[in-house]
Order: sequence, then C-alpha cells, then structure tokens
Amino acid sequence: RDDGKGESVCCCCAPCTQTGLTCTRLLLSRPGRFCLLFTSMLLLYLFYLGVSWSVEVQAFGEESSAIRTGINTTRAKEVLSSLCDAYNRNEVSGDACHRLCFDQEWTVADFYEGNKVVVVIKDGGQQAVFKSLHPSIEDYESSPEGEKEEDFLRRIRDKTDEELMLGWPSDLIDHLLSILWPSHLRSGGQQLSAADRRSLWALMQQPEYLTFRILPLSRVTPKVIGSCGHMYEVESLVAFRMKGYYMNLKGKILVHLMGTLKLFYEFLNEPLQWCDVRFDNLGLSAEYPKRFVMMDGDLLFTESKLKALMTSKTCKTDADCAIGDCTSRCQADFKCGPRNNENLDVFCEKLINKLFGNAWSKSNKYLNACHDTVTNTTTKLNDLRLTWSWTLSDV
Ligand SMILES: *[C@@H]1O[C@H](CO)[C@@H](O)[C@H](O)[C@H]1NC(C)=O
Ligand SMILES: *[C@@H]1O[C@H](CO)[C@@H](O)[C@H](O)[C@H]1NC(C)=O
Repeated sequence: RDDGKGESVCCCCAPCTQTGLTCTRLLLSRPGRFCLLFTSMLLLYLFYLGVSWSVEVQAFGEESSAIRTGINTTRAKEVLSSLCDAYNRNEVSGDACHRLCFDQEWTVADFYEGNKVVVVIKDGGQQAVFKSLHPSIEDYESSPEGEKEEDFLRRIRDKTDEELMLGWPSDLIDHLLSILWPSHLRSGGQQLSAADRRSLWALMQQPEYLTFRILPLSRVTPKVIGSCGHMYEVESLVAFRMKGYYMNLKGKILVHLMGTLKLFYEFLNEPLQWCDVRFDNLGLSAEYPKRFVMMDGDLLFTESKLKALMTSKTCKTDADCAIGDCTSRCQADFKCGPRNNENLDVFCEKLINKLFGNAWSKSNKYLNACHDTVTNTTTKLNDLRLTWSWTLSDV
C-alpha cells in the first residue's frame, strides 16, 4: 500500500497537494478514518474550551473594552513616541516594535504610571498591553560597549539566576536566550546587535519580565507577546470581578482559586510563593481554563528567591520580616527566618474566607482545608494534593 500513515495525515489535516492520491481513497482507509475522528474530537474540544471561557467571563470577569476617562493620554503618547523615536534611530529593537511604531497613531485605552508604567492601546478590535518598570529606556542601566557576546550572555544568565534562583545551567545559555529574546531564534542565531543588547539588558532589569518569561511553565502567569526596547507586551487578561453572591458561582470561583493554588505547589521543585494575594490581582486568561492568572508578578517568587530575600533582612520584631503577605519570625540574631506561613494560609484568609464567610460545610474538602484547625499544614497539603489530582486533573 502506498497510502501510508504519513501521507494520509498530510492529506486530511492539511490541503492535499500530492498528485496521484485521491482524498476519498484516503478517507476510507483506516488511518484516514482515524484522522477524521481525531479532527472532530479536536474541534469539539476547542468548542468546549470556547464555551467554558465565555461562561467564566460572564460569571466573574470584567472585560474592559471601553476607553478609560481621566487618563493622561498626552503622557502615554509621550512615552510611546520616545520609544519609537529610539527605534527609528536604531537604538532599540524588539519583535513588537514594527507593529507598535508603524504609524504612531495610537488610541490609548488606559494608562497608569506609578510603581510601573502600563499603556493599553487599541489595536484594531484588540487591546495591546505594554508594561515597563520605568517610563524611558534612559532610566535603565546600559550594558558596557564593545563587550564580547559570550560575556553579555554570561551576565544574562547571572541576572536570571539572581532573580529566580532556579540554577540555570551555563551550558543552556542559548536556550535561555531564546526564552528571553525569542527573535534570536527567528534570526537563525545571528549575533545580537547593539540595539538588541540595549533592549534586552533593560528588560533584564525588570523582575516581572523575567518572571513572566521564565515562569510560564507554572501556567499561572500571563503570556509575554513581545517586546520593544524596554517595554514588554503581555497578554490582555480579563480582570476578576465579583458579580453576584450565588453559591453556585462561588463554587466556580473556588475551583479557579484551587486551580491556581495547585499550580503554585506543583512548580518544579520550587513551589511558587505569592506574597500579594488580592482579588484585584486575579485575572482570567483565554489560554487557561479553571484557574486564575496573576495580573501582577511583582511579589511572585520562587521558594529559593523568597528565602534569600527573607534571610537577608535584619529585624527587631516579626513585623520587620513580612514581605507582603509572606511572613517570618525575627530570630535571636536579629535576622529574619524563612517564610513561616503558606500560600494555603493566605489564600484561605484573604480570598476563600472572604468569599464564603461562615457558609461552609465539612463535605467540601477545599473549604474544610481552610477551617480545619486541628490537622497540621503538611497533612492538609497532602490531602489537598490528593483532592486536586481527582478533581483538577486537567489543570
Ligand atoms: C499630562 O502629561 C503631560 C506631559 O507629560 C504633562 O505636561 C501634563 O501636566 C499632564 N497632565 C496632567 C493632568 O497630569
Ligand atoms: C503532621 O501530622 C502528621 C499526622 O498526624 C504527623 O505524622 C506529622 O509528623 C505532623 N507533621 C508536623 C510537621 O508536625
């Protein structure tokens, strides 16, 4: 038989270009039928994802398609113009520059300048969200001129390690570069230009950029779509919004919260530590069902990083040792110890108990985990893991 598996896949999953093979014959063959079945299941799954996404958004999401009033549009355009001017002078680069700087006729839908700069522009029917720690590329330290590429790459690795402490192996620098600067891969591994280095080094100085680029493995951070100079574009999320107080809806929200918590505990060998737990900080991503995604990654750490931050603090009382919601004890040597509360504790206190108050029953394992004061945390987490693996196996 000449219609082997490979060819049939080509014919039914992509337009048939081969001559001498008719599609009918292939569709009747066994691999052909398998292929049809596979395609229809895929379509059904995509449909299901689409439906569950829109149900979520209607139930507890707030899509902001409107242009916010009271924002300083002049300032927003000033920030973008100076970036695009630098791009046109070939001083910065990035895979989002061309699109961002194409005609410079932006419709600014939202703008925020505080501990971070966020510009939301309307791009056709869609929104593009650009973020940066500082407004201008001049606000970032530039990298030394005439530095050898390998030295630059070593600094990239060291910076990543300093920020995330995942112990990135030196022989995987190329892989790291392709994560942090995806155009490198597309250019076929050409040397980085001066503009590339300037831009990438500015991005490297932004912990949230590193978190969002490297921790998507955790599946709780928004996608980085691209970058231009010191600004990076992130996936536009639908903000969480409490709309009603029906039990059924709360149940759905609880499942989403648990999906997120599960992923924190599952991240490699480094359970993620989230120290900024607020409903405001939760968003829905079209990519991911049954979980919330962090809107803001500033206080999301790997376990090693948080431990390093905590233990380098000096203190007089326990209060000096808190980093956001993450707490620790002030020890006898006036140094803070490692974190002494759990993501679970903070989720319960700041989200789940607020949502359910006293309306909980022992039969709900998730709510029980928040109210049970007898069982120790280790045991609670083990029980939760078991429950997660049954009820949230697809998260
Ligand atoms: C808006 O930004 C411009 C340019 O930076 C500035 O001159 C102006 O004072 C700002 N307006 C307000 C209301 O803050
Ligand atoms: C928690 O409780 C379990 C069972 O009751 C016990 O075996 C374990 O040692 C306890 N762990 C801690 C850290 O206290």
